[in-house]
Amino acid sequence: MVKQEDFDVEQFMDKYETNIVNNMGETCCDSLSVNQLLELISKEKPEVDISLKRKQICDLILDTKATYGHIRGSPDLKSAIAAIYNEDLKTEGISNDNIVVTNGAIGANFLTLYSLVDANDKVIVVSPTYQQLGSVSAVFSQSKVNVIPFELKYENEYLPDLVELKQLIETHFPKLVIINNPNNPTGVVWDNETMEKMVNLCKSKDVWLMCDEVYRPLYHSVKREDQPKSVVNYGYAKTISTGSTSKAFAFAGLRLGWVVTRDKALLDNLFSKRDYNTISVSMVDDSLATLVLQNHKVILKRNYDICLKNIEIVQKEIDHSNGLLSWIRPKSGTTCFIKINIPNLDTYKLCSELAEQHNTLVVPGEVFDNRAGFLRVGFGNSPESIVGGFYELKKWFIKNGYQK
Ligand SMILES: Cc1ncc(COP(=O)(O)O)c(C=O)c1O
Repeated sequence: MVKQEDFDVEQFMDKYETNIVNNMGETCCDSLSVNQLLELISKEKPEVDISLKRKQICDLILDTKATYGHIRGSPDLKSAIAAIYNEDLKTEGISNDNIVVTNGAIGANFLTLYSLVDANDKVIVVSPTYQQLGSVSAVFSQSKVNVIPFELKYENEYLPDLVELKQLIETHFPKLVIINNPNNPTGVVWDNETMEKMVNLCKSKDVWLMCDEVYRPLYHSVKREDQPKSVVNYGYAKTISTGSTSKAFAFAGLRLGWVVTRDKALLDNLFSKRDYNTISVSMVDDSLATLVLQNHKVILKRNYDICLKNIEIVQKEIDHSNGLLSWIRPKSGTTCFIKINIPNLDTYKLCSELAEQHNTLVVPGEVFDNRAGFLRVGFGNSPESIVGGFYELKKWFIKNGYQK
């Protein structure tokens, strides 16, 4: 087995995340407590008896015997996950049997790659993206050279060049193509038409298509008719979606994720591998995640508002940067990839100094497949951290002679 490389993004975040004042590293929508969720529910659905709900939750946590619970995830949880996938229009339904419950999307991605990628398999992975997708593929395929990047370019607004992808597939004969829609770090979303073409290309080449959909359906700036469906809803069985409660639904602390696929043989394989690394997820997480997902529309409404408000703050900062900063304004998710228009700038050093001397966390482009010159900014958190963070960034530019 090849040595697992360090997870640069997570390590950079871990080093500085605790106690930072201006946290623009965070990629979750401002995380909620269960009580905050209950308040949101009571505003939207006054008919729900919130004190009774609170009592039921307390009883469940305090009185239920802590067994392994439903080994494959509770039926209620799986129905709540399936319902989200079944909101996509004109698709054959996803059932509970299509869902594998995992520890977060990180567990879902790992389990999928553990189940699907064998020695010497080639894997095409979109770039930039969450490092796990390429690094874990390299481990199971037993060589880094088996992982072929499919580059998204700033100049193309991070949209996929499908002619190039076709050539990559015809050159490398991969088993699997991995994409991430909406994308971390760029916040780009590939719309319905693009996704249809992407799926049809993989179908025509009989290649698996996995889509990390952990930021789905946080389509805060996309018209309803352009919003992409989940990858599993375009009529091709060899597609896999991974997701979780962490990002769009603001409950990362539950560590609750899932894999969804329509392929029966893959489902059997996922469950067989899962026996070795999960058994079951926590009973408490399972039941709280059920409550979260059954009320996901209330949460999404709140999170759309947060993202739309905060994105305007970032837009203003970019407009007032005298050309030092530019971006492809994201239409979804909670992250954007800001370009710094200073040639050969060491953005890793910039971000380290921002964290160590300016109490500000942003993630350098260097940890996303070496994209120096870019900063990943999370805008799903408090407006104060964005205003404060850009103020400190300005101070850094002035201190280093880039701005007066
Ligand atoms: C694209 C992507 N996939 C997966 C994950 C892991 O998410 P989770 O908290 O559900 O494990 C992250 C976390 O940042 C992410 O950005």
